[in-house]
Amino acid sequence: MRAKLFANRAFPIGEIDPRLYGSFIEHLGRAVYGGIYEPGHPTADEEGFRRDVLDLVKRLGVPIVRYPGGNFVSGYRWEDGTGEKAKRPRRAELAWNSIETNQVGIDEFQSWAKKAESQVMMAVNLGTGTPREAGDLVEYCNFPGGTELSDRRRNNGHEQPFGIHTWCLGNEMDGPWQIGHKTAEEYGRAACEASKIMKLVDPSIEVIACGSSHSGMDTFGRWEMEVLDRCYDQVDYLSLHSYYGNRSNDTAEYLGCSRDMDGFIRSVEAICDAMKAVRRSDKTMYLSFDEWNVWFHSNDADLKIAPWQVAPPLLEDVYTFEDALVVGCLLITLLKHCDRVKIACLAQLVNVIAPIMTETGGSCWAQTIFWPFLQASAHARGRALQTRVDCPTYNAGKYGAMPTVEAIAVENEKEVTILAVNRSLEEDAELDLDLQGWGKLSLIEHSQLYSEDLKAVNTAESPERVKPETGDGKTLRRHSWNLLRYKYEA
Ligand code: AHR
Repeated sequence: MRAKLFANRAFPIGEIDPRLYGSFIEHLGRAVYGGIYEPGHPTADEEGFRRDVLDLVKRLGVPIVRYPGGNFVSGYRWEDGTGEKAKRPRRAELAWNSIETNQVGIDEFQSWAKKAESQVMMAVNLGTGTPREAGDLVEYCNFPGGTELSDRRRNNGHEQPFGIHTWCLGNEMDGPWQIGHKTAEEYGRAACEASKIMKLVDPSIEVIACGSSHSGMDTFGRWEMEVLDRCYDQVDYLSLHSYYGNRSNDTAEYLGCSRDMDGFIRSVEAICDAMKAVRRSDKTMYLSFDEWNVWFHSNDADLKIAPWQVAPPLLEDVYTFEDALVVGCLLITLLKHCDRVKIACLAQLVNVIAPIMTETGGSCWAQTIFWPFLQASAHARGRALQTRVDCPTYNAGKYGAMPTVEAIAVENEKEVTILAVNRSLEEDAELDLDLQGWGKLSLIEHSQLYSEDLKAVNTAESPERVKPETGDGKTLRRHSWNLLRYKYEA
């Protein structure tokens, strides 16, 4: 099969906000305890953070990490995680039926994020928490000093304010499972007042209001409209969440699921723009896709995990090679919407539906999905370009006829990068490039993620079963993820 790819330098989609390569650490399962934090581990540093995990996180180049939840945040009292560790309370954590020891809190996480060369994207509790408590947390984190809360931070070892810029106003507040679940009207008012107080404390921050937990929610659409009607002027972004899976073991269909993400983004954009028009507003509402990934492998195992344990092995999906192809298609979709989606968080980062896995007390390794994320994060920065691919379509089941090759071109000051997934399960694709406006282009790298076995996984015993290899510069092998980099002179 032939795939002809057209891109022209004069037709950009937009600048890629580095925060598109964000991720997420929740107090859930072994993400924190036994994941990023394990005092006593052979690689632990003086604060108890695993250096081996930090090294993998740094390789991924994650510029921002959402914290501390997720569902967890809706029952969280942030002050529990501050002050002398021995005095911090153990709590029954109701979102995940676990015990929270509070040995890691905002002070420790800020310090970890610095070591990971990342920023914290902080979520406030708008489930059981109040707008005033949200303002208190901003004061603790960002106020320079001379108030009770900011001086408490200084006494806790952080003389300088954290300067946390991006804040989530709660989490999935439309979901009946959420602790402190609210109607759109209740949440819209709470988000408006929380944002007002938080921005009075620190006017430089940006805030994200909760959109729908996924596009299949009964309230989807009406939720967005009602929430925005109450807080449009006070918020900067609206969130989207979506997880995908191959429950029916139909790979052809599964590889088409990025069409769902694409449709979800388009719908939320349309709703935001309708609200903008109705309000005669000049302000464009940007989007934060702050939870996205594959999540289904661990669903059954999680039902068997006994409650009230510290750091139980929850949501430990072991990702297959085909999951990496899906993550690749989802990344390309996010890039295609980079004019509107400014923040996105691969959920999550370590152990919990994550690209990085650890054995408590043992090794850590990269799952299959680590690779497309790493390559996009490392090379698809700068400006995304309108990209057309002429190629055959195939039948992706409920998603309909899908292009066999999904691709995007991105440019920075020196290079043009192509990210491409060949979804065909049978045929290789010969890539024919028509890239206009850069003069002579020379290939620097063609890296390809390919496995004969769609269900191949990386494990502690075989951590490198699936990893990128060098490609021939023109063939997108059947079911493969590809990174092609070209140097230009013009
Ligand atoms: O990422 C796992 C969970 O998925 C989060 O806690 C929640 O926000 C979502 O439902």
